[in-house]
Amino acid sequence: MDYFEYRDGIYHGEDVSLETIAATVGTPCYVYSRATLERHWHAFNDSFGDYPHTVYYAVKANSNLAVLNVLARLGSSFDIVSIGELERVIHAGGRSEQVVFSGVGKRLDEIERAVDVGIQCFNIETVAELDRIESTAAAKSCVVNIAVRINPDVDAGTHPYISTGLKENKFGLTADDAIDVYRRAAASAHLNVSGVACHIGSQLTRMEPFEDAFARVLEFVGRLEGEGISLDHIDFGGGLGVRYRDETPPHPTEYTERLVACLKQHGVSLPVTIEPGRVIAANAGVFLTRIEYLKDTQARNFAIVDGAMNDLIRPALYQSWQEVVSVRKADKSVPQRTYDIVGPVCESADFLGKERELAVRAGDLLAIRSAGAYGHVMSSNYNARPKPAEVMVDKDRFYVIRERETIEQMVAGEHLLPE
Ligand code: LLP
Repeated sequence: MDYFEYRDGIYHGEDVSLETIAATVGTPCYVYSRATLERHWHAFNDSFGDYPHTVYYAVKANSNLAVLNVLARLGSSFDIVSIGELERVIHAGGRSEQVVFSGVGKRLDEIERAVDVGIQCFNIETVAELDRIESTAAAKSCVVNIAVRINPDVDAGTHPYISTGLKENKFGLTADDAIDVYRRAAASAHLNVSGVACHIGSQLTRMEPFEDAFARVLEFVGRLEGEGISLDHIDFGGGLGVRYRDETPPHPTEYTERLVACLKQHGVSLPVTIEPGRVIAANAGVFLTRIEYLKDTQARNFAIVDGAMNDLIRPALYQSWQEVVSVRKADKSVPQRTYDIVGPVCESADFLGKERELAVRAGDLLAIRSAGAYGHVMSSNYNARPKPAEVMVDKDRFYVIRERETIEQMVAGEHLLPE
């Protein structure tokens, strides 16, 4: 559930009309709802009841400092995949000892910085990464916690670009490769074997792939115990899907119940960590854009808007469907027609929605829903378009949490060759 809804025919985020935001901040922009973010985070955190657990919000989904800060204030931990994400967490008031570092390609400088600030755990995905982490820890005379990400070879049944748990994917290690890494880590004076991790993909709408993966990870935990290697947590990753259209993903409560049932079945009672991103942020945000022109051709009606694929790339990249709503419900005089909602970028992939029934005029505002996760974070300056602003609504107030990029900011750091 989210806090975006019509009130007296005008779409609101919490108690603020999106018309007011557009008039003040301009378009295009992202608008987030604090209450929705908090609600989703609590839904996950509370779903575990008494079972020992930690929620590591996946920073990649939305890394705006204000978003991270809202979650840090709830006590959230954070899952990062780059030093940039680590610095964002620190800037936002998150605690480095509540950070887990995932990702297949950690550079030496990233590992060094993460060791310096004392993160909670490195999730190792490549055999050679162990050496880097160990020698960094040795050089700094400290001991760091590690987990190994297992690739369970499970089909997540999601878009191929966001499936990560198949053996042909670059992510994680097979159980056999992982065992060697654990043996070496257990023998190291500078590494502490802390956990095991897995993450099989994103926008999963069924429990079965999760359960297959959990079962394989738990079998692996048994194998480690047989080797005398004990763990202090299991990280089951993120990936729970959201409703964009008519998907019916499991509620966090069902997800957790079935996860805990798997643990019981395998006789495991270790603390659990999870890394949800989308399920917390996606429906906590909309992308607000204004129609510049309506253009009718023989084949199609286009609503040409001021937002584009550089601002919100999910429709172009994954053919994702996100609901498009008119910010002001039209009166009867405006005909309802079928539109493709397209931006000004010079590509036919530049669409935000196709074949949508809308009653709109040029100048009207549209809100693209479910844009709070993998929206602004995936934006670019393609076509030399400055990045959009971001706004957070908190009850009846709203705050610009990222200013619209200016042309000067966009070209800052570029240099002409000397005469
Ligand atoms: N943990 C790890 C190690 C991950 O790689 C990811 C996402 C997550 C957690 C969070 O997954 P979530 O709960 O958000 O599904 N750009 C794509 C999604 C890419 C997800 C990558 N990894 C999209 O817009 O659909």
